[in-house]
Amino acid sequence: MKEQLENIKNEALVKINEAKDLSELDAVRVFFLGKKGQLTSILRGMGSLSAEERPVVGQIANVVRETIEAGIADKINAIENKLLEEKLANESIDVSLPGKKVKIGHEHPLNIVLDEIKDIFIGMGFMIAEGPEVEYDYYNFEALNIPKNHPARDTQDTFYINDNIVLRTQTSPMQIRTMEKTKPPIRIIAPGRVYRSDEVDATHSPLFHQIEGLVVDKGITMADLKGTLEVFAKRMYGEDTVVRFRPHHFPFTEPSAEMDMRCFKCHGEGCSLCKGEGFIEILGCGMVHPKVLEECDIDPDVYSGFAFGIGLERIVMGRYKIDDMRLFYENDVRFLEQF
Ligand code: DAH
Repeated sequence: MKEQLENIKNEALVKINEAKDLSELDAVRVFFLGKKGQLTSILRGMGSLSAEERPVVGQIANVVRETIEAGIADKINAIENKLLEEKLANESIDVSLPGKKVKIGHEHPLNIVLDEIKDIFIGMGFMIAEGPEVEYDYYNFEALNIPKNHPARDTQDTFYINDNIVLRTQTSPMQIRTMEKTKPPIRIIAPGRVYRSDEVDATHSPLFHQIEGLVVDKGITMADLKGTLEVFAKRMYGEDTVVRFRPHHFPFTEPSAEMDMRCFKCHGEGCSLCKGEGFIEILGCGMVHPKVLEECDIDPDVYSGFAFGIGLERIVMGRYKIDDMRLFYENDVRFLEQF
């Protein structure tokens, strides 16, 4: 039996040495040490030994098992080291290769100009307000003195979530939301996306951007409106900018006006850009309608205010001489990189 054990040990060490990978090595382990393995079957036969022989053979069997186990552990180490070396050799890094260029985006021209506009108004003491694009009919129309069936709704057809909830057609609902929450003095601008059910062409898009402005305090007059908006135009387009105010109608302001800027291309002579007018419309404005103030629990006999709405796309198109609005939304980097 001692001899048998000695043979198993030697045979196992040879097989361990020959094993080429971890699975072959595992097969060797099962063959010698497994439940039905060589060593185990020898140990089973120990019952037939005499009482003196049994501990002696038992001790030898233990030494054989330990020797085989140690052999296997060494071989596992050796195989793993070899694998690691191969991997390192194959994956060597050529540090002289050029790096992969990380492409970063480009600030959108609408944001570049919006930031400028914000800076101009912040400089005049305005705060920035933001509100929901999915808006109640009440804020978008009703509270702005545009009741159901009012003709002004025709030009502002939009996307309806249900009878009472729409995608806002203008940033003007922020006037109501601000006056509901804050009492005068109020000086805010509210930039954001607005939606209309318009077909896409060079000057129309179902999604565009407006910047709403609202000032409410004691003693605010049309002179404040004109002064503020003239300063805005000059900061935006240069000190020699000439503006004019034309009477207009908006349901939520009285009186209402549109502000035009003298055409920067022909300086008022009339050209293709201004369609022969000499002036280009840049925003709508007016004195906040007393009904709108009342709707927000602000006493029109004590307070007055002015409001305005700027179309951001139009301003950016004028600034960079862009003639097709669709370019803003395609996000082609070749377009964006020019600004
Ligand atoms: N919300 C108007 C529109 O989309 C623009 C506007 C005009 C806003 C006059 C105002 C305003 O606040 O006073 O056509």
